Amino acid sequence: MKKKLIGLAITAAFAVPAMAQQSVEVLHWWTSGGEAAALGVLKGNLEKQGIKWNDMPVAGGGGEQAMTAVRARVTAGNPPTAVQMLGFDIQDWAKQGVLADLNDVAAKEGWDKTVPAALQRFSKFNGKWVSAPVNVHSTNWVWANKEVLAKAGITSDPKTWDEFIADGEKLQKAGFIALAHGGQPWQDATIFDGVVISTGGVDFYRKAFIDLDPKSLNSPTMLKAFDRMSQLRKLVDKDFSGRDWNVAAGMVISGKAGFQIMGDWAKGEFIGAKKVPGKDFSCFRVPGTQGVVSFNSDQFAMFKVGADKVAAQTKLASAIMDPGFQSAFNVVKGSVPARTDVSDKDFDDCGKKGMKDFAEANTKNTLVGSMAHGHAVPASIKNAFYDVITRHFNGQIDSKKAVVELAAAAKS
Ligand code: BGC
Repeated sequence: MKKKLIGLAITAAFAVPAMAQQSVEVLHWWTSGGEAAALGVLKGNLEKQGIKWNDMPVAGGGGEQAMTAVRARVTAGNPPTAVQMLGFDIQDWAKQGVLADLNDVAAKEGWDKTVPAALQRFSKFNGKWVSAPVNVHSTNWVWANKEVLAKAGITSDPKTWDEFIADGEKLQKAGFIALAHGGQPWQDATIFDGVVISTGGVDFYRKAFIDLDPKSLNSPTMLKAFDRMSQLRKLVDKDFSGRDWNVAAGMVISGKAGFQIMGDWAKGEFIGAKKVPGKDFSCFRVPGTQGVVSFNSDQFAMFKVGADKVAAQTKLASAIMDPGFQSAFNVVKGSVPARTDVSDKDFDDCGKKGMKDFAEANTKNTLVGSMAHGHAVPASIKNAFYDVITRHFNGQIDSKKAVVELAAAAKS
């Protein structure tokens, strides 16, 4: 009898299935050198906890292609654990009722107290946390190769729009490409964020892109902003069409070009190439926009997943919000932490400036959501704006037509 019992116990022990390894599937568009390096920090932290990382990269800066991929997965009833997402897209998915409720982990870790309200506005839906913000980027930056500028006789960063254009012309005369740019709609729009703030100021930007005031969208100030885009177009080389943003950053890094106007993810490429801010390159706000920050925050929207996947998903959310991780990740990514309690001590000069600018803009109410990166208007309007901005940049419509079309696009 005893023997039989032992036999049964052994059989039962062998019948227990081996504990399946916990895993997360993460969909994102971080495929450039700097982006992949930053993501590696998160991957590494999860793997240290024994969680397998199933990577689902969808190339394409700004994330348009990634959003198409998400739609297909959700429609098929098989969403990934977490998806890199921007602003209004998070809210759109939350409205569909497909995002998870992170309130337990958020309450336990005090997210309400440490994440700035400007980000919470996108991370929460109907009082529930549905996504974990990993960073804050901003779009109104210029990246410059110091040696190239010196060769063109430029000894300080341009402070005004006219100085910037004059410096661009000096660069061209000295045989350089003045402005490294990639002709893709989201990149044209990224430049437009800064140009609109520089031309009309922060209140004008708000009225036009956040309130969608038709009189501001179709106004002499907006007309001037489009004219300034035409000035920039003259500073770009002839092969710009379709070029990826990181290739454009590479042109500044290698000394082919002087400037790039791009969000601070560009810094990730400079750092990856072992370039030092202040020595090899400089970072400054688009002339005329100092004091204003047009931000976008990458967040990981968490989808409702099967009960067997919830534990790993919660660990992922918690790993993203960890203060040590937020420092390590953002040092590499070029962005600044999505928490207010992280020290700037490990950040380089551009990162320190980014953190200071963000904090100041937050207090002074000069922090605005980036139109180009989904933090001003929902995707339908954003895409309609992209279309107008790109057709204008490519010379298909003039500034007069562009302002009329921009006002019409706001009704999309
Ligand atoms: C994201 C960045 C990313 C950039 C280029 C932006 O929309 O916020 O994290 O590096 O696109 O891919």
